[in-house]
Amino acid sequence: MGCSIRCIAKWRKRHLQALKTVLVLLLTVSISISWLLVDKQHLNGSTESLPNNITILLWHWPYGTQYSLEGDVCLRDYNISGCILVDNRTLYESADLVVFHHFELRVHNQHLPVDIHRPAKQKWVWLSLEAPQNNGNLSPYNTLFNLTMSYHPQADITVPYGKLLQKKPDFDVVIPENKSYEACWVVSNYQKRHKRSDVYQELKKNLKVQLYGLAATKPLPKEALLPTISRCYFYLAFENTQSPHYITEKLWRNSFQAGTVPVVLGPSRRDYEAVVPPNSFIHVDDFKSIKALAEYLRGVIKDPKRYNEYFTWRQDYVVKLYTDWRERLCNICPIYGRFPTQKVYEDLSVWTKW
Ligand SMILES: *[C@@H]1O[C@H](CO)[C@@H](O)[C@H](O)[C@H]1NC(C)=O
Ligand SMILES: *[C@@H]1O[C@H](CO)[C@@H](O)[C@H](O)[C@H]1NC(C)=O
Ligand SMILES: *[C@@H]1O[C@H](CO)[C@@H](O)[C@H](O)[C@H]1NC(C)=O
Ligand SMILES: *[C@@H]1O[C@H](CO)[C@@H](O)[C@H](O)[C@H]1NC(C)=O
Repeated sequence: MGCSIRCIAKWRKRHLQALKTVLVLLLTVSISISWLLVDKQHLNGSTESLPNNITILLWHWPYGTQYSLEGDVCLRDYNISGCILVDNRTLYESADLVVFHHFELRVHNQHLPVDIHRPAKQKWVWLSLEAPQNNGNLSPYNTLFNLTMSYHPQADITVPYGKLLQKKPDFDVVIPENKSYEACWVVSNYQKRHKRSDVYQELKKNLKVQLYGLAATKPLPKEALLPTISRCYFYLAFENTQSPHYITEKLWRNSFQAGTVPVVLGPSRRDYEAVVPPNSFIHVDDFKSIKALAEYLRGVIKDPKRYNEYFTWRQDYVVKLYTDWRERLCNICPIYGRFPTQKVYEDLSVWTKW
C-alpha cells in the first residue's frame, strides 16, 4: 500500500516522539545513577581516596606454608579485579593493607615492622582463625592494628571456614548410603582437658565410635578422609574450644561434605543456626545427658526416614569451603571501601568479648 506525503510526515513524527521519549528516559536513568554514586561517596567520605588497585601485603605466610602469588591471582582464580596480593616486603611502602597472621607473632617467629616508617593511609590487619583461648595475650598488640580479620561475624573482615550457598531447589538429593559405623571422630590433638574428650569418653559407653587421626594412631591421608568418614552415620564435629561463632571445617568438610550428620559441640545452637538450617545437625547441648544423646542417635540410625531428614538442606544448598589463604585475602578487596578511614584497636582483645 502506498503512503502519501502527509502519511510519511505523520510516521516520522511518531518515530521522533518515540526517540525523544527514549532519550529522556536514558538521561533520567544516567542522572539517577550518577546521583546515587555521588551520594554513596558523600556518605562514607572515603571513596575519593579509593586506590585503583588495592595492594595487600601478606607480611608472612600463616604456619610457614608459602603459596604462589605469580600473575594476577585474584582476577584469575577468584574473578576479583584490581586486587594485588604480594608477599615481598620491599613493597611495604606502597601497600594499602599489611596483613599479619597472629600465630607467628605470638611465638616470636615474626615481628611487626614497628621501626619502619608507616605510611599514613596504610592499614594493618590482625589475622587469626583461632578461638580467643588459643591466641594468648593480645595486649602487646594494642594500638597497632586498624582492622581485624577472623571467623567472627563482627570482625572487620569475616573469614568463615565455610558457608552454605543457595542453589536451584532439587528434590532428588542423594542421601549417602553404605554406612558401617555408628559414629566417627577424627582427632589429631587429644587432650584430656578438652571438654570434647569427656563427651567422647561418655558417648563411647553407649555408642560405637570409630576413631581416626593421629591421636588414635590411625592417621588418614587427605584423599582418604572424606570417603572414610562417609561410612559413618554421624560425625563428631567437636571443636577443640567452645567459643561464640567458632565453627570450623569439622562441620563444613568433615560432616557436610563427607555426607554424614554432624553431632556438634562448640558454640550455642543459635550460632550454628545463624549459618546452617536447624535440622542439619544435632547439638550436644540439646540433651540432658550424653547417655540420652547416644540413645537418640541409635534411634535415628534405626529409622531411615528420620535420618534422611537431616539431609533436607541439600535440596537448597551446597557447601562452600574456604581453605586457601589467597582466596581469603582476595576477598578483602571488594569490601575495602567499607572500612573506616580511621580506626585503631586500642584494645585488640575487644573482639573476644563480642
Ligand atoms: C593495576 O594492576 C594491573 C594488573 O597488575 C595493571 O595492569 C595495572 O596497570 C594497574 N593499575 C594501576 C593504576 O596501578
Ligand atoms: C561400600 O563400602 C565398601 C567398603 O569401603 C566398598 O567396598 C563398597 O564398594 C561400597 N559400596 C557402595 C555401594 O558404595
Ligand atoms: C558506608 O559505610 C557503611 C557503614 O560502615 C556501610 O554499611 C556501607 O556499605 C558503606 N557504603 C559504601 C558505598 O561503601
Ligand atoms: C592505623 O593505626 C595507627 C596506630 O597504630 C594509626 O596511627 C593510624 O592512623 C591508623 N591508620 C588508619 C588508616 O586508620
